[in-house]
Amino acid sequence: MIRLIDAREELLPQVLGIEREAISPPWSEGALLNEIGREDGLFLLALEESAAADNDIAGFCILRRAADEAELYQIAVRDDCRRRGVGGALLGAALEYCRLHRVVSVYLEVRRSNDAAIRLYKKYGFKNEGRRKNYYSSPVEDAVIMSLPI
Ligand SMILES: CC(C)(COP(=O)(O)OP(=O)(O)OC[C@H]1O[C@@H](n2cnc3c(N)ncnc32)[C@H](O)[C@@H]1OP(=O)(O)O)[C@@H](O)C(=O)NCCC(=O)NCCS
Repeated sequence: MIRLIDAREELLPQVLGIEREAISPPWSEGALLNEIGREDGLFLLALEESAAADNDIAGFCILRRAADEAELYQIAVRDDCRRRGVGGALLGAALEYCRLHRVVSVYLEVRRSNDAAIRLYKKYGFKNEGRRKNYYSSPVEDAVIMSLPI
């Protein structure tokens, strides 16, 4: 079973570990800290039941609202916890949060080569909106923009 909790500062080192391994370029500790406890956003951590006793974090996601739109900033699952529904649970909860807050559209950017993430987003109804040329660094790559009407 997967349990979702709001991010807390003392759990940030684990989030940083997952982030550095999964996302390039990663955010700084300060940038992640800035997303904790915000009125206009969601910073969720996923604990798998087997790991929950130790507060071991399997994944996290960060979403921010602006007016009636939201942007999914980050979603990542620990390498050894993937393909067990953690990413889907996080994304589903983020979309539920958007519904509760009357968000009309959710947007995200994803590396063009990131098949796993693109499949996850499509499974939850996101559609391609366009491209941003050379949007990412380390390595340089186009972003695919995706959106979902809520
Ligand atoms: C993308 C990511 C968050 C998915 O997390 P996950 O916990 O493995 O995802 P789930 O097990 O919930 O899978 C949900 C769906 O996503 C898709 N998916 C996930 N991983 C996939 C893979 N490796 N290959 C193909 N499809 C995949 C499938 O559609 C899957 O549904 P299914 O199991 O019914 O086939 C994870 O691979 C990850 O952390 N990647 C690195 C970080 C990243 O790229 N984040 C996105 C940045 S925009």
